[in-house]
Amino acid sequence: MTNTRKVHIKSYGCQMNVYDSHRMADTLASEGYVETKTVEDADLVILNTCHIREKAADKVYSELGRIRMLKQAAAQEGRAMTIAVAGCVAQAEGAEIIRRAPMVDVVVGPQNYHRLPDLLARAAKGSVVDTEFPVEDKFGALEAPTRDAIRARGVAAFVTIQEGCDKFCTFCVVPYTRGAEFSRPVAQIVADATRLAEAGVREICMLGQNVNAYHGEGPDGRPWNLAQLLARIAAIPGIARLRYTTSHPRDVDESLIAAHRDLPALMPQLHLPVQSGSDRILAAMNRKHTRADYLGVIARLRAARPDIAFTSDFIVGFPGETEQDFCDTLALIEEVGMSASFSFKYSERPGTPAAELGDQVPEDVKSERLQRLQALIMRHQDAFNAESVGRSFDVLFDRVGRFPGQIVGKTPYLQAVNVMGPPSLIGEVANVGIDGLGTNTLFGTLSAPVGDASSEVSFEQRKMQNSTSNSILVDAGA
Ligand code: SAH
Ligand code: SF4
Ligand code: F3S
Repeated sequence: MTNTRKVHIKSYGCQMNVYDSHRMADTLASEGYVETKTVEDADLVILNTCHIREKAADKVYSELGRIRMLKQAAAQEGRAMTIAVAGCVAQAEGAEIIRRAPMVDVVVGPQNYHRLPDLLARAAKGSVVDTEFPVEDKFGALEAPTRDAIRARGVAAFVTIQEGCDKFCTFCVVPYTRGAEFSRPVAQIVADATRLAEAGVREICMLGQNVNAYHGEGPDGRPWNLAQLLARIAAIPGIARLRYTTSHPRDVDESLIAAHRDLPALMPQLHLPVQSGSDRILAAMNRKHTRADYLGVIARLRAARPDIAFTSDFIVGFPGETEQDFCDTLALIEEVGMSASFSFKYSERPGTPAAELGDQVPEDVKSERLQRLQALIMRHQDAFNAESVGRSFDVLFDRVGRFPGQIVGKTPYLQAVNVMGPPSLIGEVANVGIDGLGTNTLFGTLSAPVGDASSEVSFEQRKMQNSTSNSILVDAGA
């Protein structure tokens, strides 16, 4: 009998890293590893790292400092702890990581996760680094998740359909850390999605650094675009909801807009990063689209799907950004009315063209602009949530709540909703009337009885539900 070994995987950065961490866990499961949530008892620790901003990359070294102590403590108990650094820092820095942190045993880039078992075996004789871009298909070689693993991960799942980026925005490391654009074949994605659906997954979010540039080989031998793929995945029994992220404004074509009109499973919510509202800055960023192009795409999507909501990413303090450029960004947010957004201070990344530009914006100016931007984003987000009160939405329930009798789900717009209802609704979509607004959540009432006494909510229960969660109750006239 082989000894069970424990692996602890910590993911930083984007959703693609979360997906990759799952696939590493699946691959290691077939080697006899089980996952542990605590790092202390792990035989193998994997840090799946992010290189997108300086702060993200620096985190890795402080974390490695902490893990070094744990590795020493384990050694004193006669136990070996293997340390692997994966992800985008691994790809960007390679052997430099081992130079700075010699207790690291394995450095593995995102394209080489299928070689992990082999790399771990080789690491027994000394540190190994694998940051090649191999010719073989990583996705085809990674192990599939077991039914139990899928169930443990919940009713919404990610599937990477595209990786890498050919856009080369001047601030961004992704084209270097993830390499050239690659689209997985349709058949492989359908097989993954079918396996997930059969294990109870109801919502799939298709992932790619540039997901709407998808052009994988279809069953007819021709390249399929994202719209074709979405229609195919929507046809899989059990799949109730589809999303995709992250898309680039330039690759939103007519077929994708039509998919938003024609596919009920495709949720009316789109993350469409714009980065800046100033044409001058967009050009310096090499975004390959103007402010007007972006607004045009938004207008066409809204015409096709009037209830669609948009979220975005913004960078403040890109080299040369003036107060006027920044105000153009604020005005763009006012014009679109995003339901939520991420915003970042520009971070100079080694090897990217923008790092070579003069006219870097001082740190205090960046901080001040970020604050103003975030206040505006918050105002729009709060207004969006407040407008949800009094409306009803289909909610996909994904877990039990913090209080007895409470279940939690998501609206089409990814807002969390707390409802009194039976746990049997987890994994189901039900209509909910929204009647309250909390700090980070909405409160609602199931629209139709579900044949379980516990869903009939008494006034006392509702009072408890609302008072214990710090909500601001809004009188929706219900
Ligand atoms: N592929 C996506 C986003 C990838 S990175 C896209 O094309 O939009 C996620 C976000 O990080 C970006 O949208 C951008 O807002 C931010 N980002 C990337 N590089 C950055 C940098 N050097 N400094 C600050 N923010 C950055
Ligand atoms: Fe980075 Fe631009 Fe590619 Fe997005 S499109 S991953 S921001 S280079
Ligand atoms: Fe970070 Fe790499 Fe994702 S740099 S954002 S983990 S693609």
